[in-house]
Amino acid sequence: MKPKIWLSSPHMSGAEQTYIKEAFDTNWVAPLGPNVNGFEQDIKSYLNQDRHVAALASGTSALHLSLILLGVSHGDEVICQSKTFSASANPIVYQGAKPIFVDSERDTWNMCPNQLEIAITDRLKKGKKPKAIIAVHLYGMPYKVEEINEIALKYDIPIIEDSAESLGSLYKGQNCGTFGDLSILSFNGNKIITTSGGGALVTKTEEQKQEAVFLATQARDNAPHYEHSQIGYNYRMSNIVAGIGRGQMTILDSHVSKRRSNYEFYKSNLAKIDIIKFLEEPIGYFSNRWLSCILLDSFETREKLRLALEKENIESRPLWKPMHLQPVFKDAPSYCNGVADDLFQKGLCLPSGSNLTPEQLDRVISTINMYFAG
Ligand SMILES: Cc1ncc(COP(=O)(O)O)c(C=O)c1O
Repeated sequence: MKPKIWLSSPHMSGAEQTYIKEAFDTNWVAPLGPNVNGFEQDIKSYLNQDRHVAALASGTSALHLSLILLGVSHGDEVICQSKTFSASANPIVYQGAKPIFVDSERDTWNMCPNQLEIAITDRLKKGKKPKAIIAVHLYGMPYKVEEINEIALKYDIPIIEDSAESLGSLYKGQNCGTFGDLSILSFNGNKIITTSGGGALVTKTEEQKQEAVFLATQARDNAPHYEHSQIGYNYRMSNIVAGIGRGQMTILDSHVSKRRSNYEFYKSNLAKIDIIKFLEEPIGYFSNRWLSCILLDSFETREKLRLALEKENIESRPLWKPMHLQPVFKDAPSYCNGVADDLFQKGLCLPSGSNLTPEQLDRVISTINMYFAG
């Protein structure tokens, strides 16, 4: 068996150990401490907008807290991009609210502004105004920020920007993670930088950040004993984990460059195979190319190619299966145009890690070439 080539594996800089050691040496082994503050500051500086950052246990917990901050509760409706990972939608259900799924457009594979407006007007007609819109920059490609914002503004609905996959991406020169009323990041093991597990909430005000931190640390009221007037959560990032994050922030831009060069490598080396299509960056878009994805001509080709790669011990994955097709969300209303389903049928994510070697990339290309040569 040839050595495994992973889809997207953690890639340490070497600097992480310094921060972790410091945490041990000073006994800051808790969900607070200098690394937590430092990591938040590092992200804030990187995002380069007037934003506030709360380091949390995961991107999912950041999404959950976003919904709570926006007052989403039992019986509310929340619009969510259908083509995404289930973690974008699950927290809606944690709040007892109902997800309303919206399909994608072909230019970025993200939320379709037309379908979004159709969904909003239909929900309004049915007597329910959606409480929030969860829009996702999938695989690092920014969604149509201006179009989505305009609709959200028109109907006065806040946006939760799911930037879990898009740290380092830009839309018209501005960092993803700074476009929502609230935005979230993920540092899960497969992301562009990782803390093994972790996430962050990005807010516009310090008060929102403090409210999130309060809820994330069990909602303890200001009293010498344990006093609670609200339900709290254990969602804060630990000082050890944040130490990994500080080390990772030192190489974020080089990870973006490497992932972008993976994409360019695949594109130029597969150019001869007509049926393979790539998602181009529209003008003004800069994707971190978290995952390099290709589109084939049919489900059959995509699946046979995936199995051919698997036989060579190369991990690849179909594009996200839309949420409106997931058994768990079968009863959720959806506003569809067929794009997300078509992308799911024909799309494949190729190995994309920033630690892939030239030899590994060559192995992927020669396996794909061999498959198409029959
Ligand atoms: C689009 C998207 N949203 C949310 C999440 C959840 O992040 P986490 O795994 O840190 O909870 C992920 C990744 O895991 C994701 O890809």
